Amino acid sequence: MINTVKIEESIHFLGVNDRETHLFENLWPLDKGVSYNSYLIHDEKIAVIDTVKSTKMDAFIEKIGGIIGDKPVDYLIINHMEPDHSGAIKAVREKYPNVKIVGNKKTFEFLEDFYGIMDHHYMIDDGDVLDLGKHQLKFYLTPMVHWPETMMTYETTSKTLFSGDAFGGFGALDGGVFDDEVNLEFYTDEIRRYYSNIVGKYGAMVQKALKKLKDAGIDIQVVAPTHGPVWRSNPSCIINYYDKWSKAETEEGVVIVYGSMYGNTQKMADFIARKLSEKGIKNIRIYDASKTHVSYIISDIWRFKGVVLGSCAYNTGLFPAMEAVIHKIENSQLKNRYLGIFGTASWSGGGVSTLNQFAEKIKWQKIGESVEAKSSPKEKEFEMCQQIADEMAQLLIHERV
Ligand code: FEO
Repeated sequence: MINTVKIEESIHFLGVNDRETHLFENLWPLDKGVSYNSYLIHDEKIAVIDTVKSTKMDAFIEKIGGIIGDKPVDYLIINHMEPDHSGAIKAVREKYPNVKIVGNKKTFEFLEDFYGIMDHHYMIDDGDVLDLGKHQLKFYLTPMVHWPETMMTYETTSKTLFSGDAFGGFGALDGGVFDDEVNLEFYTDEIRRYYSNIVGKYGAMVQKALKKLKDAGIDIQVVAPTHGPVWRSNPSCIINYYDKWSKAETEEGVVIVYGSMYGNTQKMADFIARKLSEKGIKNIRIYDASKTHVSYIISDIWRFKGVVLGSCAYNTGLFPAMEAVIHKIENSQLKNRYLGIFGTASWSGGGVSTLNQFAEKIKWQKIGESVEAKSSPKEKEFEMCQQIADEMAQLLIHERV
C-alpha cells in the first residue's frame, strides 16, 4: 500500500527521503538525511511540480502512478534545475511522453545542457498563469535563489506557494511531513544549516524574492519547498526565518572556532569562553575546526553576532582546517558580526597574521587587539584574551532590548 499525503483534497505530496547519500552536493554532510519534495495536482489537467534526484526516480514514478492510475501527466513544472530536483525529468517523459515541461527561458537552457531535452517546452514568463481546471498556477521568477532559473509557483485555490529550494532545509522527513506534525526544534537547526551553506550567499536575492511576493499581495497559506517540512500551520515562521537570515540578523551569542595542534590555542579558546560566560553570555559555542564540519560552524555563525577565530601557525601559515572556515565565511559574504582573533606562533608565525588579513577583507567590527602567544599563552596573552571577551560581552549586552 502506498501512503498518500495531501496538502488538500487534490494536491498530493510526492516527496522521497534520502538517508543514503553522505554529502549533499558532494560537500555537505547529511547526518540527518534530506528529502526531495515534489507535488502533484490532480485536476482536469494533471500537473507535477518538480521531480527528485535520479537515485529516487523509481519510487517517484511509482508514487505518481499510485495517485493517477492510467491517466497521463499533462504538465511538469520545473521550479529549479539542480539535479536533486531535475533528476527524474527524463523518467517522467518516458512514462508520460506527451507531458509539457513548464519553465522559463533559463530553465530550458539547463534542460538542454543537462539532459538534451529540446521539445515539449511550455515557456512561461513572470506573472503568467496556467489553468488546470479548478486550480490556477501563477509563476514568479525568483532568479538566484539560488540558481539563475529558480522560480516559484503559486496555486491560487489552496494558496500554496511551491517555493523550490527557498524555505527548504536538510533533514529527512521521518514520518511527519507538515510543520504541525514534527518537532520544529530538530528541523530549525537543519534548515539554518541548509540556508547558510546553500542559499546564504544570495541573501540579497532572497530579499528581492520576498519583496516580489509581498508586492504581489498573495495570501500564502502553505509553503511547500523542495526540501524539508511543508508549512501549513505557520507558514510565516519559515518566511520570517529566511527574511531574518537573509538580512544577516542575529541572536546574542558567540561562536569560537579554533585550529590547534597541541592544545595551546585551544587553551585560549576555553579561556575566552569562560570569561564571556562570567560576563553573562549564555550562548557560547566552541568548535575545533579539525573535528566539526564547516557547515555546522557556519550555521552557528549565521545565528550569533559574536565570532572569535583562533589559529596556531602551520608551515608559516594558517592552520589548514581554519582555511576552510575563513574561505566559507568570505564566500558567503556574511555581514554584521563582531570579530575577535587569537592564536599561537612557534618557530614561525602565520596563523594570526592570516586571520588579521581576513579581518581586513571581511570588514566585520574588530573586537580588542589580536592576540598571538609564542608557543603557549602566558599571563600577558591571557589578559589580552580577557579584553576580547570583556569587549565582546559588553557590546552584546548593550544590544539587549
Ligand atoms: Fe535542492 Fe538547489 O537544489
